[in-house]
This record gives sequence, structure tokens and C-alpha cells, in this order.
Amino acid sequence: MDRSAGRAGFSFPREDEVPEPWRLPAPIEQREYLADGEIRRWRGPAREVLSPLCLRGGGGPRPPRLGSYPLLTESESLAALEAAARAHDGGRGAWATMPVEERIRHAAGFAARMRAARGEVVRLLMWEVGKSLADSEAEFDRTVAYIENTIDALKDLDRRSSRFVIEEGVIGQIRRAPLGLALCMGPYNYPLNETYTTLLPALIMGNSVLVKPPKLGVLLHRPLLEALRDSFPPGVVQTLYGDGAQVVGPLMESGRLDLLAFIGSSRVADILRRQHPRPHRLRCVLGLEAKNPAIVLPDADLDLTARECLLGTLSFNGQRCTALKILFVHRRLLQAFLERFRAGLAGLHRGMPWEPEVALTPLADPGRIEYLARLVADAAAHGATIVNAGGGEVGGTFMEPAVLSPVTPAMRVYHEEQFGPLVPIVPFDELSEPLAYVAASPYGQQISLFGRDPRALAELIDPLVNQLCRVNLNSQCQRGPDSFPFTGRKDSAEGTLSVADALRVFSIRTLVAAKETEENRRIVSAIVRERHSRFLSTDFIF
Ligand code: G3H
Repeated sequence: MDRSAGRAGFSFPREDEVPEPWRLPAPIEQREYLADGEIRRWRGPAREVLSPLCLRGGGGPRPPRLGSYPLLTESESLAALEAAARAHDGGRGAWATMPVEERIRHAAGFAARMRAARGEVVRLLMWEVGKSLADSEAEFDRTVAYIENTIDALKDLDRRSSRFVIEEGVIGQIRRAPLGLALCMGPYNYPLNETYTTLLPALIMGNSVLVKPPKLGVLLHRPLLEALRDSFPPGVVQTLYGDGAQVVGPLMESGRLDLLAFIGSSRVADILRRQHPRPHRLRCVLGLEAKNPAIVLPDADLDLTARECLLGTLSFNGQRCTALKILFVHRRLLQAFLERFRAGLAGLHRGMPWEPEVALTPLADPGRIEYLARLVADAAAHGATIVNAGGGEVGGTFMEPAVLSPVTPAMRVYHEEQFGPLVPIVPFDELSEPLAYVAASPYGQQISLFGRDPRALAELIDPLVNQLCRVNLNSQCQRGPDSFPFTGRKDSAEGTLSVADALRVFSIRTLVAAKETEENRRIVSAIVRERHSRFLSTDFIF
């Protein structure tokens, strides 16, 4: 294939070289947003969307235009909030009081409609954030599965709540109820999955929700807009687009939000929380930054370790919050590890997302390349070497991964979350060195340990589980399976997300209780028998 090579040896295709199913989509000029059960048309300014997947034409590779989306203002945002508040109606709304079984039917209807949009959403995931076809399909399928599993988890939860408890002469029925108005915001690296894995649990628990897609990966939500409108009652879900300061600030400042689900930086999370006039009323579910280390012990299986570290550091070009962002390698096997890691890296296919076996693709946020280059220059200035051929070279929106060694505390990349294709390697002699790193780190998400001695691993596991939230043995760090708790300490997270945990996070326990008198027993049984209440009920969902 005749392609022009960038400096990094990466070549971008011509538009006519893109295979048919994944051709550049016709520009999507989105002017629609969802509020109060209707798709409204925006007549104001719009933001242009460019793809990180450059195309070659006259004058070198250029990012093609994908379309545009509305830059809404405070007034649309507050109107959407008003619609959500009307729908919730202080907990009296139809959605908040709807039997769980019916809410489940709405969510299942949405999942079915969503499935039909797979091809279109997957194509946009590739073009908007540069994710490989396999990973884009996996993101879509994992999201649908997450919704289906959420439905099953809610059935379980409801079944367990369909009974009365009698304790110390008090009869009670305990269930989970919605919190009220929720704002859900996902990140650009998992724009679909990490938006819907908070949106759906928030909805299904009976909250009314405002959702704002991330700064990159907005248009891929467009194919789901009608399904959202048709699947939920008016006002239960609205979509917002635009600058955070314009559309999110006013929501926070209104003091009317009860819940913030945000996956992004702790800096932004802190700004948002502070904007709320009564922060104690705002429940926050936050997925924030991380700098997950790996510790490679002297007896590690080198082939397996190099393979997992390659996946951990460079899947989706290192643009994962769970990525391995610093590798502590015992000096005794440093050279052997580097050889295998470099060989593995050299064998990875660099290309466009739809190319078979592609592993490294253009970066989702081209603006980040400059930052990554500064980290590389700083590491070099402080004595690190780029140990792979061409490491750090840039061609358009593609950056060749840079493996940096030896990395020391004097370098920025030792401390900062690179969120991109940089692999800092810190050789160590004493285990106290990586352990001190973990203890001093502002982050507390996960770690990977590579070694074979059960006793040595166990000695590390016991202190580390009290400092991080997942210790991975001979495996890269990752969020899944989605039934496992996903959380972090320190600056890495607040609240826990898993299929079952999300249902708890987006709801609160509430109960009806009565002293066990003759009269109360008669009243409670009449309410249940004659089915006067949706809450006080022993209905069992099959
Ligand atoms: O960006 C953070 C994601 O939650 C990571 O998910 O480990 O499945 O890639 P993953």
C-alpha cells in the first residue's frame, strides 16, 4: 500500500484506502439535544470535531472533520435541570415511584435499541478517539452486557428486599430508593462505557439524570439519542453538550444536584464539588487519576512479565486510568526484561484502528503529544535514555512509544500520570524502593506484582492491600471483570463501581418501620395484602 510515512515511521492512509465498512462517516452536524422527553434543536454555535485519524492528501496527513455538536449555554442547562426536577418531583415523580420491575422493562428496552446501533457507534469510536476496532467492539459489547448484568443485579437486590424483618419488637421493610437528581460525566478514553456504566445504574435506581459526554467522543452518542428519548419517561434523562464552565458550573451552583458521577481528573472533580453550595448534600462517585506501578521481582517469569507489562503499559496507547504507568524492575533481570519488552514492542502492529492485529494507534487527544514530549525531554535531561529505536518520535497524531530507563525521582515522569505511550522503568535493588514509592504516591488504585515465590508475594500482598485497591499477581492492572469492585484510595477514586456496587452508590437505603403492636400488624398486612403501596410490598420479581 502506498502511504506517506510520518517521522515516526507511521503511515496514514488516503481516504480511498480506508476499507468500506469503516469509511470516514459523512459529517454529523449534530444540533439535537434531549431534554424533557423531546429532542430539541439548537440554533446557536457549535463545536467542530476533528478526528485523530489523519488522512493523507495533497500537503501531507491531515485530521479529517467528523462534524460538530451544540455548544449549549447556561440557559439550556438550567432548563434541562428544571425538566429533571419536574420529572423527579421531590420523589413523587412517576419514575421515582415506579415499581422496580417496570423500571427494569424500560432499561431492557433501551439495551435492545442500543444493540441495533452497534456498527455506527463502533465506527465513531474508532474515528473520534482512535480506538482499535477490536477494542471499540469490546467497549460496545461490554457496555450492553453491563446494562444486562445491572438488570439481573437489581432483580437480586429487590428480591432480597421483598421481605420484612422483625427486630427488638420493630417490624421493618428496608429497600433502596433514588437520591434525586444526578449528573453523569464519563472520560474520553472510554466515552461510551464509562458514561453508560454510571448513567444506567443511576437511571434504573429511579434518579432523574443529566448526562454530559466527555470532551472527545461526543458524536458517538448521537445514534443513541432517540433510543434514550423513547425508552424513558420525559425528564428522566437529558443530554448536555458544551463547555463545562457554561453547562456544568450552573448545575453545580444551583445546589439542586444530589449526585455527581464523574470520571476524569481530581482537579476538575474538586472544582465541581466546591461549586455546590451545600457539598454535604452531593454524593460523589469519582474515578480519578492513577499511576499504577508494577514490581518485577528477581524470580519473575520474564516472558509472561514482558507480555503483561506490554499490555498493561500500552493497550490503547497507555490511555487507560488502569494502565501500568511505572515499572520497577529488579536490577538483576533489568537487561533481560528490557530485551524482551523491546522485542515485544517492536513486534506490535502500528496502524489505523481497523487494521487486523493493530495494537498502537494515533492518540485520541493530539494536544497531549506536546505534554508527553516534555516529559520525555525532562527525563532525558535528568539522565534517562530512550531505550527503544525511534521512541518518542511523532508523526502527525501518532507517537512512537518511548521506553525510558533508568527513571529516577528527579524526573517528572516518575511522579506524573502520563496517560499516553511512555514506559518509565525504574531499576531497583531493594524492595523498600518501590514500597516507598507506593506509600508516598498521591494515587492508590492498583499494582501488579510479577514473581513466583508464594512467600515473597504474600509478604507484599499484605501491606499493599491496605494502600491500594487491587493487587494483581502476574497480571496487568485492569478494571474488569465488571462484577469486581473498581475503586481507589487517595486521589484515585471516591466510591466503588461494580455492577452490584453501582446500584448501591446511586441509591440510599430507606425503610418503613413500626412497633410490633396488634394494630400495626393489622395495618401493615392490609397494605401488603391489598397492594396499596409499591414500597411496602412482598412482590417478588421472577
Ligand atoms: O480508564 C480506565 C478504565 O476504567 C480502565 O478499564 O482496565 O478495562 O481498560 P480497563
